[in-house]
Amino acid sequence: MKANIVLLPGDGIGPEISSQAARVLETISGKFGHDFEFSTHLIGGIAIDQTGDPLPQETIVACRESQAILLGAVGGPKWDDPTAKTRPEVGLLKIRKELGLFANLRPIQLFDQLVDASPLKREIIEGTNILFFRELTGGIYFGESGTSGEGADESAYQSMVYSVSEVERIIRLAAKAARSRSNRLTSVDKANVLEPSRLWRRVAARVMAEEFPDVDYDVVLVDSMAMHLINRPRDFDVVVTGNMFGDILTDEASMLPGSLGMLPSASLGSGGPGLYEPIHGSAPDIAGENIANPLATILAAAMLLRHSLDLNEEAKAIEDAVSQVLNDGLRTPDIARGGDAIGTQEMGAAVIERLSN
Ligand code: IPM
Ligand code: MG
Repeated sequence: MKANIVLLPGDGIGPEISSQAARVLETISGKFGHDFEFSTHLIGGIAIDQTGDPLPQETIVACRESQAILLGAVGGPKWDDPTAKTRPEVGLLKIRKELGLFANLRPIQLFDQLVDASPLKREIIEGTNILFFRELTGGIYFGESGTSGEGADESAYQSMVYSVSEVERIIRLAAKAARSRSNRLTSVDKANVLEPSRLWRRVAARVMAEEFPDVDYDVVLVDSMAMHLINRPRDFDVVVTGNMFGDILTDEASMLPGSLGMLPSASLGSGGPGLYEPIHGSAPDIAGENIANPLATILAAAMLLRHSLDLNEEAKAIEDAVSQVLNDGLRTPDIARGGDAIGTQEMGAAVIERLSN
């Protein structure tokens, strides 16, 4: 298979981890006889520094012409000034919107080898396996916003809007995924307070009743969900929610397996390229030190193969290689729990070595 893959390394540890994932993809390309071509483009803070724009037009064009996009991370203290004209995060929000990537899949999967790295007790988290579907191009993130007034009267607002079609399409994707897993779907909202959540709940219930009567479906309020995730994470299978709730709940859930450094994510639209990235951020405090964990991005590369290129065997090969390095006791500092640790490049090389065997 021939595929154009766009690399968007971004900021902080982004370049280090995405280059390891790209090496893994190159290895797969060789081993399975594919023809992957890579091109690297700007996004985030580095794009602001070099062009003044966190998402240059040239990057958008390259992404549109690609089959899949692998992103490192964006942002850092250098660009944090609240009065700055633009911010690195704008680049990320804009690419999601430009490419219509309305569904953000965030699997929260436990690695048996790392259960003891979790802040929760083994008996609570063992067996946890949740797939979040976060709506990614609507809701409060993209609602109308503004400021007015001055001094003590100055105020700011941002509205949360959801349309029927936006809810329908994400519910359908999540429900289909539920069918391919253990057939359970939980929708999370705040329907006791928010109007868009009431619409969400109504539309979700209709879609589920009409199109997915076989899927075991329930609804949970977002504040309760925050508790349940800590208390009984095993009870959830596929969880679907809006943009902002999904942002918060997936960060919370990402702590269950012990390290953010292990979790990939995929952002998909209807057709067109998907965007794959680690769940974690740019970690500027450890950038350039060769200590960041590249496994989340390497696992994101596996998701890329599966979801955008339909290469399931290749995706599984990467996941198995990652599992193998963990079995072999290899750890980057974030998952080493004070024991021996290896660096970013060594971890990438270890995965490649197991792939090449
Ligand atoms: C995420 C991040 C982004 C978001 C930021 C960096 C804009 O937190 O992907 O979860 O809020 O969506
Ligand atoms: Mg987030």
